Amino acid sequence: MTTDQTSTAGAPSLQADCAQALFNRQLAAYRKIVGENLMFHREVYGLLGELLSREMPRPFKFLDIACGDAVASAAALKGTSVDRYYGIDLSARSLQLASEALKVLTCPVELRCCDFVEAMADWSAPVDVVWIGMSLHHLQTDGKARLMRDVHDALSRSGIFLIWEPTLLEGETRDDWLDRFSVCRAAFAAVTDDEFAAMESHMRLADFPEPADTWRAIGYQAGFANSDELFMMPNRLGRVFKYWN
Ligand SMILES: C[S@@+](CC[C@H](N)C(=O)[O-])C[C@H]1O[C@@H](n2cnc3c(N)ncnc32)[C@H](O)[C@@H]1O
Repeated sequence: MTTDQTSTAGAPSLQADCAQALFNRQLAAYRKIVGENLMFHREVYGLLGELLSREMPRPFKFLDIACGDAVASAAALKGTSVDRYYGIDLSARSLQLASEALKVLTCPVELRCCDFVEAMADWSAPVDVVWIGMSLHHLQTDGKARLMRDVHDALSRSGIFLIWEPTLLEGETRDDWLDRFSVCRAAFAAVTDDEFAAMESHMRLADFPEPADTWRAIGYQAGFANSDELFMMPNRLGRVFKYWN
């Protein structure tokens, strides 16, 4: 595992301690949300596993951008023909958890601790499937488009690109979408008020959903000839799209 982010000489500063503690709390809350299926990981990653089993019968190389702890990806990939797994994430702690979760796979696993925008700008290992779950929406529209171009360039000719990302309903604004998340509080009963408030403020700061038409258009701009919408979350906050040539 390449970890270029967290090693420091000497004692960590108080500020670094606080940032780490905050990150660990957020990670614990996210793992609780996934465990309780509040974001529909079961349905989304179930769909991913079925698609890979059906469409990728021959050995394939899988790149998981912003893989986090990779628990859901590991379950989706188990039993498929995956013969190489690459995961990228900024969080060294998440990658430690990922290296445990991915032990269920029999193929080589390579985890890179870095910014996915930088990693994809000069990605050189050929891959057949690229997956991004709930992470591309932190970029602005032109950043999303640039990242999709880099993904297009990284893929083999028959490769596929799949994203699961926050998506606006027709005519909806970002503020409407954020308000729609806020009224989901009752469904998120498993998280505390503080955890829910932290999620909301993170989203208001860093989440930039796109309309479905834009998600598809930036895929075409990136060079993909085809796109399809595969799934909408039951709360209609996000969707899965597939791109291919
Ligand atoms: C919401 S989690 C998604 C995890 C997983 N893909 C899923 O579907 O549940 C977002 C992940 O993206 C990572 N992340 C966010 N921005 C990143 C960046 N610029 N480069 C690499 N990782 C990033 C975070 O560390 C976190 O693990």
